[in-house]
Amino acid sequence: MRLDGDTVLITGAASGIGRATALRCAEEGAHVVVTDVREGTGEEAVDEITGAGGSAEFRSLDVSDEERFREVVEAVEDDRGLDVLVNNAGVGSPPRLLEDTDPDIRDFIIETNALGVWNGCWAALPALKDDGGAIVNVASVAGVTGAPRIATYSLTKGAVVNFTRSVAAEAGRDDVRVNAVCPGFTETGMLDGYLSGSDDPESAREKLVADYPLGRLAEPEEIADGVVFLASDEASFVTGHALVVDGGYSCY
Ligand code: NAI
Repeated sequence: MRLDGDTVLITGAASGIGRATALRCAEEGAHVVVTDVREGTGEEAVDEITGAGGSAEFRSLDVSDEERFREVVEAVEDDRGLDVLVNNAGVGSPPRLLEDTDPDIRDFIIETNALGVWNGCWAALPALKDDGGAIVNVASVAGVTGAPRIATYSLTKGAVVNFTRSVAAEAGRDDVRVNAVCPGFTETGMLDGYLSGSDDPESAREKLVADYPLGRLAEPEEIADGVVFLASDEASFVTGHALVVDGGYSCY
């Protein structure tokens, strides 16, 4: 098992990619600290893991709250020692031209997607540097390519990709690897929210799929596999990397 005995803290793990990652990490032998702002569904994710024979616990965490992030990390470090942090929590928004975007929405997206990742690295690095470890940030293909009507989201995800490189450069001598995964469109609630903001969600979905050389969008488990790889010793010489998992979308 690739994460045997490790403790992995995952943000936004109540649903979607975070939940799939929590399940995969538990299958690989990790104790998973499922965290999310949504308490009920977070606890359901823990039940799913333990029901399948894995080990997990739930802790409530809003990633935009840096003091709470530090408190959660310190508690996990005291209990078991932290080995891996997955900064997965993120929010999207319906497709919208930049000039039509409300500054309140801008701030909400930046606070969650960009500052949430900053908060996670800030909170976890002291613990990870103690005994080595790994951070995996969930960015997006929107952080490495441009596309219309998602500029604010792109701003945050591009920031996460380059932040990942800089933190990797800082933390490598302390045996901490820092990488990012850049998913293409993935079948989660976030995708549903994005499509429901279109005039015709079904044809919007067909247009998206047409842009993917593999002819389909990702399943959350396929992104989780990329996260597990970067978290595991199989990636022991990989740091500062942004692993694009996008069905070939960025080939064009
Ligand atoms: P999702 O909406 O299914 O799950 C996101 C989770 O994050 C939810 O459980 C939500 O409660 C939690 N969350 C939101 N704000 C939070 C906060 N402030 N603190 C703690 N938890 C919070 O979305 P999905 O698709 O699983 O997204 C996961 C990550 O993958 C995000 O960073 C997203 O930007 C990224 N991503 C998703 C893609 C997609 O097409 N679904 C494509 C590329 C990247």
